[in-house]
Amino acid sequence: MIEPPVLVIYAHPLPRHSRINRPLAAALARLPGVTMHDLYARYADYDIDVVAEQRALAMANTVVFQFPVRWYSVPPLLKLWIDEVLEMGWAYGPGGTALRGKSLLVVASAGGSADAYSPQGSHGHEIERFLLPLEQTARLCGMDWLEPLLLLDANAADAATLAGHIDRVSACLGGHARVPGKEAVHESA
Ligand SMILES: Cc1cc2nc3c(=O)[nH]c(=O)nc-3n(C[C@H](O)[C@H](O)[C@H](O)COP(=O)(O)O)c2cc1C
Repeated sequence: MIEPPVLVIYAHPLPRHSRINRPLAAALARLPGVTMHDLYARYADYDIDVVAEQRALAMANTVVFQFPVRWYSVPPLLKLWIDEVLEMGWAYGPGGTALRGKSLLVVASAGGSADAYSPQGSHGHEIERFLLPLEQTARLCGMDWLEPLLLLDANAADAATLAGHIDRVSACLGGHARVPGKEAVHESA
């Protein structure tokens, strides 16, 4: 369940070339109760303001990681953000309780299709397997892991598929719809 306030941590290394995440981030930024942190716009020099990021996290009930999948993982600046912002003694470890009880939602796009993300497919595993480090990061920090909202086959998405994805994610973050409980939702073009 998405509980406001929501903090979206958005990372796209080449936003000008983005068909999916750029318009999605723009739509989410307009929602009431949503704060958008565009990491590549804020920290082009990779010099992350850890105190400011921790302050924003402390005020949120739901944290969203929005990104295009890159080499089965998150873009490098989001990985650096995780490394630096989720400090021991703050996010985890002794005294590290700042994120406890909050929720983490992954909103990601991937070029691979649902067929490719299967044991028989070219990526060899379900896409959820590649999100396991993020899921365990959330759990280590005492956060609830929400079922990810994923757009597969993203580069083949037509305008209607893209609009539907933006509507669905906006409805979830805007409090008009529940994040599905069991299965991650895959949309394919
Ligand atoms: C360097 C690079 C690595 C990528 N790695 C993957 C990958 O591991 N798995 C995948 O399904 N798609 C991969 N893609 C495709 C992107 O995820 C896809 O183009 C993106 O989600 C589309 O969203 P956008 O229009 O916002 O850029 C990669 C793309 C680039 C440029």
